Amino acid sequence: MPSGHRPDIMTEQTPVTQAAAAKVTLPDAQTVTEVRHYTDRLFSFKTTRPASLRFRSGEFVMIGLMGDADPRTGKQKPLLRAYSIASPSWDDELEFYSIKVQDGPLTSKLQHIEPGDEVILRPKPVGTLVHDALLPGKRLWLFATGTGFAPFSSLLRDPQTYEDYDQVIVTHTCRDVAELTYSGEIIEKIRTDELFAELIGAEGLAKLTYYPTTTREESPKMGRVTDLLKSGELFRDLGLAEGMSPDTDRAMVCGSIGLNLDLKEILEGYGLREGANSEPAEYVVEKAFVG
Ligand code: A2P
Repeated sequence: MPSGHRPDIMTEQTPVTQAAAAKVTLPDAQTVTEVRHYTDRLFSFKTTRPASLRFRSGEFVMIGLMGDADPRTGKQKPLLRAYSIASPSWDDELEFYSIKVQDGPLTSKLQHIEPGDEVILRPKPVGTLVHDALLPGKRLWLFATGTGFAPFSSLLRDPQTYEDYDQVIVTHTCRDVAELTYSGEIIEKIRTDELFAELIGAEGLAKLTYYPTTTREESPKMGRVTDLLKSGELFRDLGLAEGMSPDTDRAMVCGSIGLNLDLKEILEGYGLREGANSEPAEYVVEKAFVG
């Protein structure tokens, strides 16, 4: 995620202890309703949704907890990080997908939240992984590594994704098979949810292709998605002609800095240009939350 939001992190809040923070008084508090742990590095959680919060699929908000008290002043400040909203915009609750970093200032604490706890959620969604930042096209590629799948979890449950494109291909590259659990379950949910099927129809569902790969553990498809693109293997696996065209292909990228840079080069090699909210084009990129 962009780091341009850091000044927000320092916004002053009423000083409260960690224990009290779990119960009361945070102006932007939301209640945790569900927590799921996938591996010792990954978890997801759901929170209540502020009644006034509207967002576009693919956007992120700042989420956090009160930090430790300053040893000199005793004051606490909110510790916030950018989190993509993983839930669809029609859902009553909000869902987030997070890494756990054992010495990470926020995630070392956030990984211990439980239903009933409160988190701070600034209700100002922003981001570039949105339909508005892409020009109309025929085929949408969503490329994720690790927790970079989160914004796509929202976009893939947005009927507009299937209305706007003839084909939607989502790739997810992780180190090992267990790290693919979250995306695998979301795709399964999309394919089997009766309400969603009613919304987008069998035709809409047939547009979706999920392409999971691992890099450090044996699985049906191994390798970095960047290498699979460059070698042409990905296209062959999907029965597609090799390459992309700026006339028809659109892409969204969300992962590590390395993935984002490598994919930018590959996509630009196909003639796609980077878009933004203010100037839509053929692809958009955002860094996944890493701290
Ligand atoms: P690798 O195992 O070869 O580093 P992480 O868990 O470190 O965020 O990585 C998530 C996945 O992203 C891993 O499978 C990793 O592969 C892959 N990855 C890391 N850097 C790149 C890159 N530059 N291009 C493509 N995939 C990458």
